[in-house]
Amino acid sequence: MMIFDVLTLFPGIFVSPLQESILGRAAKQQLLQVRLHNLRDWAEGKHQTTDDTPYGGGDGMVMKPEPIARAIADLKTRTPRAKVLLMTPQGAPFSHQAACELAAEEGLIFLCGRYEGFDERVRQTLVDAEYSIGDFVLTGGELPALVMIDAIARFIPGVLGCSDSAEADSFSDGLLEYPQYTRPAVFNGMAVPEVLLSGDHGRIARWRREQQLLRTWRRRPDLLKRAELSDEDIRILEQLQRTDSESGE
Ligand SMILES: C[S@@+](CC[C@H](N)C(=O)[O-])C[C@H]1O[C@@H](n2cnc3c(N)ncnc32)[C@H](O)[C@@H]1O
Repeated sequence: MMIFDVLTLFPGIFVSPLQESILGRAAKQQLLQVRLHNLRDWAEGKHQTTDDTPYGGGDGMVMKPEPIARAIADLKTRTPRAKVLLMTPQGAPFSHQAACELAAEEGLIFLCGRYEGFDERVRQTLVDAEYSIGDFVLTGGELPALVMIDAIARFIPGVLGCSDSAEADSFSDGLLEYPQYTRPAVFNGMAVPEVLLSGDHGRIARWRREQQLLRTWRRRPDLLKRAELSDEDIRILEQLQRTDSESGE
């Protein structure tokens, strides 16, 4: 079972998202366990202080290193090989690839910041990796940790049932997913592409691949540079680029 330990000043933020839907089901099936820990439990003094003013002056508060060091040491007595991940807008961009790799770990410890973030020595000595979920600044590391737990959990065997398959999802083969349709066959005068109603699985597969290539080229050309493309993909792409014939957009 994959263990996610979360160190936070606001454990309540996690409760509902972890109980619902796929993550809730995975926890009930004991495929994963998310253990929430209040960092204050490792703080000292009457006020259990976890932050202090920055050396050198300036606005805001900085998270102190000692409670974090004690907390990590304690958690590691239970999962010695767990990787410690620090949530920070200055970290490596979190990605499909990173989620897939982290899902193979025995345990992960998420360190959620608040205020102005962490004393630099936390980053230097106590963590294995730093992750950002995007080029923007949030009020705390709780939502980034939740985002990462959700994305990582999808790679744990058994978490996604057949009905939630990840195989065709965007990024799984380096491309965006093809457009999806469901009933009704005509909505607001817009018909589902005829090929999807044809029952011809070869044609459907070819159409979906073309749509993936075209959509990725139009929306995220940066992904095409890194995707593994077959000779046939390259031929389709060159033809699509010549005709630029995407329908329905
Ligand atoms: C207000 S932010 C601190 C930002 C910090 N002063 C800086 O400029 O890098 C507070 C905490 O939210 C979390 N956080 C904010 N934005 C994030 C992002 N894009 N990705 C990951 N964590 C983030 C981090 O844990 C951070 O310590």
